[in-house]
Amino acid sequence: MSVQQEKAAQLLAAIEAKQARVGIIGLGYVGLPLAMTAARAGFTVLGFDIDPGKMADIEAGRSYIDAVPHAVLAAEHAAGRFSATTDFARLGECDVIAICVPTPLTRHREPDLSYVSNTCRQILGTLRQGQLIVLESTTYPGTTEEVMKPILEESGLVGGTDFYLGYSPEREDPGNRDFETSTIPKIVAGDGEAAAALVAAFYGAVVKTVVPVSSTRTAEAVKLTENVFRAVNIALVNELKIVYEKMGIDIWEVVAAAKTKPFGYMPFYPGPGLGGHCIPIDPFYLTWKSREYDQPTRFIELAGEINTAMPRHVVDRLAEALDRSLGKALSRSRVLILGLAYKKNVPDIRESPSLKLMELLIERGADVAYHDPFIEEVPRTREYGHLKGRRSVPFTAEELAGFDAAIVATDHDGVDYAKIAELVPLVIDTRNTYGFRGITAENVVKA
Ligand SMILES: NC(=O)c1ccc[n+]([C@@H]2O[C@H](COP(=O)([O-])OP(=O)(O)OC[C@H]3O[C@@H](n4cnc5c(N)ncnc54)[C@H](O)[C@@H]3O)[C@@H](O)[C@H]2O)c1
Repeated sequence: MSVQQEKAAQLLAAIEAKQARVGIIGLGYVGLPLAMTAARAGFTVLGFDIDPGKMADIEAGRSYIDAVPHAVLAAEHAAGRFSATTDFARLGECDVIAICVPTPLTRHREPDLSYVSNTCRQILGTLRQGQLIVLESTTYPGTTEEVMKPILEESGLVGGTDFYLGYSPEREDPGNRDFETSTIPKIVAGDGEAAAALVAAFYGAVVKTVVPVSSTRTAEAVKLTENVFRAVNIALVNELKIVYEKMGIDIWEVVAAAKTKPFGYMPFYPGPGLGGHCIPIDPFYLTWKSREYDQPTRFIELAGEINTAMPRHVVDRLAEALDRSLGKALSRSRVLILGLAYKKNVPDIRESPSLKLMELLIERGADVAYHDPFIEEVPRTREYGHLKGRRSVPFTAEELAGFDAAIVATDHDGVDYAKIAELVPLVIDTRNTYGFRGITAENVVKA
């Protein structure tokens, strides 16, 4: 057995005995739940992040991610299975390193892999034989081999023999209580045979089901395919919504009936536009990479166009309805947006269409406010700096009675929708919130 084979065998044995020390870089929506899952599976986990605020929270046993209960974080921390640091020199202590840093788009809507490459440079500082490094961030096919590997090989060590590289995409669904990290099947792949076996062994020890695929490029493509699938299907149902609106047909009724087909159909729902960190962004990672192959991605681009046009459609419907039912111009109206988060029951406004709605309404001269039980104040965002500091208006009869119209953009549970329809003259419902709750009111218009 060569020295390298011996190192691989040692790491495999350490993983199987849960003795391997696990490092997780980026303790956000993806990294923190993964850290907890690995710690609960019996590994000792060291988290790395550049945000000192998160360190303070972890030290105090406070969770800042909805999917991780305070008690779980506090227990793992107290038991010594989970700690966190901003000291990246400690990466050398870890046998398995998972990277969960952001992969956003640049201003020109191109992949911004700077977080991934900077993280690889940090790993490079202490890279040693026998370490397994796995990327979890969503990215285009080829990133692990073409971007990460060359940086790590600047060490003089060789990927696949000295150290091991893998890719295993995250499939978190924030707010979904039916699944947690450990119960969602995990795609795993390695750069080479030894790496593939190690990645499968590690995740196999942490989650219930692993799904090995033949290469890191395939695993990267799986993740993008899942998100492209959602973006395209949401665009389709958004387009159908507009067509059926013109025909006097209710898309919600259509989808409810169509989904009774036990095969060959899967329901997707229209809305005010795409939101969140994944669906509006990830498909463009593939679009960008496809250009290298001179291959157009027309479905993705078209889906992007349709979905991006939805907030404008909602505002146009509001303007028409205001004119028709109240004889009032949008520019002289007070409008309340209900729900700022991009989906229900989460405090996350990343890429939220509600922000776009707010911007469009302001542009058209309306007086706009929002109510969201999860978001007290609009934080700093890259695109909507001018909205920062606006605060959620209280949900009181006096406040509600001051608006001409409300747009239900996010259908959070626990909001008294009947009261809104009672006190606000016009309600634009983008989520079939009233239909799903069986509330009928004549002043509710679907859009
Ligand atoms: N949020 C989701 O539901 C979800 C689902 C699937 C995949 N993803 C993907 O997972 C990746 C991470 O997303 P997220 O939602 O967890 O993001 P996030 O913003 O919640 O977390 C990222 C964390 O990385 C930290 N960070 C930034 N730069 C760093 C650096 N150089 N070194 C160490 N830490 C650094 C940030 O402080 C933050 O805590 C992205 O690629 C995303 O596309 C996210």
